[in-house]
Amino acid sequence: MYAYAVKHLLYTPPEPVPLPPSLPGPSRPPAVVVPSSSRQQPSGSRQEPSSSRQEPSSSRQEPSSSRQQPSSSRQQPSTIIRKRSSSLFNQPSSSKQYPQRELEIDEMSITALANIEVDSSCDKEPAETECDSMEQSWVSRALDILHHTYLVMMDDELTLAPIDPNPRKILDVGTGTGIWAIDMGERYPSAEVIGTDLSPIQPSWVPPNVHFQIDDAESEWTFPKNYFDLIHIRHLSGAIKDWEILYTEAYKHCKPGGWIDIAEYEMDIFSDDGTLPPDCELKKFYTLVSQAADITGREFNSSANLLPVIEKVGFVNAHHTMVRMPLGPWAADKKQKEVGAYLLLSTETGFEAFGIKLFTQVLGMGTEEAGALIGAAQKQANSKKMHVYGKHHLYYAQKPLDAQS
Ligand SMILES: C[S@@+](CC[C@H](N)C(=O)[O-])C[C@H]1O[C@@H](n2cnc3c(N)ncnc32)[C@H](O)[C@@H]1O
Repeated sequence: MYAYAVKHLLYTPPEPVPLPPSLPGPSRPPAVVVPSSSRQQPSGSRQEPSSSRQEPSSSRQEPSSSRQQPSSSRQQPSTIIRKRSSSLFNQPSSSKQYPQRELEIDEMSITALANIEVDSSCDKEPAETECDSMEQSWVSRALDILHHTYLVMMDDELTLAPIDPNPRKILDVGTGTGIWAIDMGERYPSAEVIGTDLSPIQPSWVPPNVHFQIDDAESEWTFPKNYFDLIHIRHLSGAIKDWEILYTEAYKHCKPGGWIDIAEYEMDIFSDDGTLPPDCELKKFYTLVSQAADITGREFNSSANLLPVIEKVGFVNAHHTMVRMPLGPWAADKKQKEVGAYLLLSTETGFEAFGIKLFTQVLGMGTEEAGALIGAAQKQANSKKMHVYGKHHLYYAQKPLDAQS
């Protein structure tokens, strides 16, 4: 499994992508729709997937912001990014209830990315959904897109850990929108999947074997000891004060022979070909987010160095893989290009959602200054001239079969 994963995650140094020739046609490309929240429909009129939800109506194809307007110099996109939902989550009682969410990508171009419209009911009806605010819906959107980025990167695997094919108990700590937990529940009907989070941003309608709980992962866990076949912890950097305490809890509640799966990324951006000026706003954005997180005592800097902590608390058979994920569809390799396109898409709402509070509340920046920096960073992230990537660290490890506690 590990060899398989490594083979598929091995990084091919990307090369700049030759821009596609302009295609004839209308000056503005049609928008593409990524319905992100069909599974978030709690009840009532939004239960049934209308065909218009899956096939964008012409009115929904209008880009809503100037950022989505391609300049005349931009290329005509040949890309279709479509997320299909065959059905919505139904009441958790009958036999076939859950949508097969599927992302379909034929080809990527940055112009098409600029025209992706994410169809989110949270955006349209914030007062009637579980979204607390527009900001929260931005976070949710970024998290869901990032989840799909990981699926592409990991060849549709949800975990690298070589778990039993029929796991019984799975825990997703800091589950966010619950998208990983829901996908795991669909893939492993034998399992009960529990997602915990401080924020109630999970959808109401989920597979019957998936449950969400409001829980603070930094407090002592209340689950039975030696219980879970798999504990998944993804992207909690910036939220956790002491990894050792967190992983000790995971160890206690993992069953002997069970696995922990961890994914964290470095809050930094890199380039191997000199296309990332060290003083540019994009670099500054990452540096300042990292500095702000340090000030809160919940830093990102450990992401690359978690293996010793995982082993210290008792896990064995520990593995660590670092994956470079391009930001933007600039890589020559098809998969890397796709990963980069999705990662870039996640930043469209992610930069602001994750940056604004840290910049204004922790670093004391004015809203205008913070907004300007985020906007400039976003613009540079979209630049075809910058070939940049982030470093993501994937770990998995096992609780010894003969563990006593
Ligand atoms: C960046 S998101 C990652 C969400 C999810 N793991 C994913 O990969 O899509 C971090 C999540 O951790 C949650 N979180 C932060 N601190 C937490 C804590 N102490 N206990 C539980 N959840 C926490 C946040 O509310 C947020 O939903």
